[in-house]
Amino acid sequence: MSNYIERFSTSERVLHWIVTCSFFTLLLSGLGLFSRLFNGYFALFGDGRNAILVHKIAGIVFFLSSLYMFLSHKKDVATFDDDDKLWISSKGGYLSRDETHFNIGKYNPGQKLFAIFIAVTTLVLGITGLFIWLPTVFPRWIVQLSLMIHGLMFVGAIMFVVVHVYLATIGNPGTIEAMLYGDVRKRWARKHHPKWYKEVTGENP
Ligand code: HEM
Repeated sequence: MSNYIERFSTSERVLHWIVTCSFFTLLLSGLGLFSRLFNGYFALFGDGRNAILVHKIAGIVFFLSSLYMFLSHKKDVATFDDDDKLWISSKGGYLSRDETHFNIGKYNPGQKLFAIFIAVTTLVLGITGLFIWLPTVFPRWIVQLSLMIHGLMFVGAIMFVVVHVYLATIGNPGTIEAMLYGDVRKRWARKHHPKWYKEVTGENP
């Protein structure tokens, strides 16, 4: 009997890595535009003009792939049941001295909130990005306000993605296997997502 169960299909994983690659391309090409301090990063793309071109292309890829990723697993991330509410009121057990167990489905509420945050951020970055892209089409105040919001959301997104990458790798060993190979150890699933484990296998965790 296999020790593994499937968590993500190949297409789900490809989509996640397209979102990730376009996100980090946006980060690197956007740094020089964010502040003069980071102008040196333009060299990665040849010059500032190329960096802007890459930023626009990566922006379109990120906008479409990120929203598609959210919409395709909206059912799993946008609903909160009573067990999720218990997880939230107990702060996921992160601040407790005792070992806590929650009856969690495919995603825990922290992951759900992260997915919702990324979807909202994608929309806001996309809309403000469009205003900045076409500065002569839209009123000056809209373009200036967009520049401020775009920069603030960009900083917020990086902070949450850093936490996400930590929790998906060092913080919870075994999690990264889901996005690398598509399957996870049953032991991992029983520990982190017992309700999902029962749904998939029919076995009591
Ligand atoms: C090197 C960077 C990244 C790594 C190693 C990584 C890893 C992972 C892993 C392992 C999962 C599955 C978690 C599970 O099965 O429970 C996941 C899910 C997810 N990732 Fe990433 N990820 C990265 C970057 C990103 C970026 C840049 C975004 C969006 C901007 C993103 C958005 C998501 C979302 C929305 C989910 C589903 C909800 C969640 O698990 O939080 N990821 N990621």
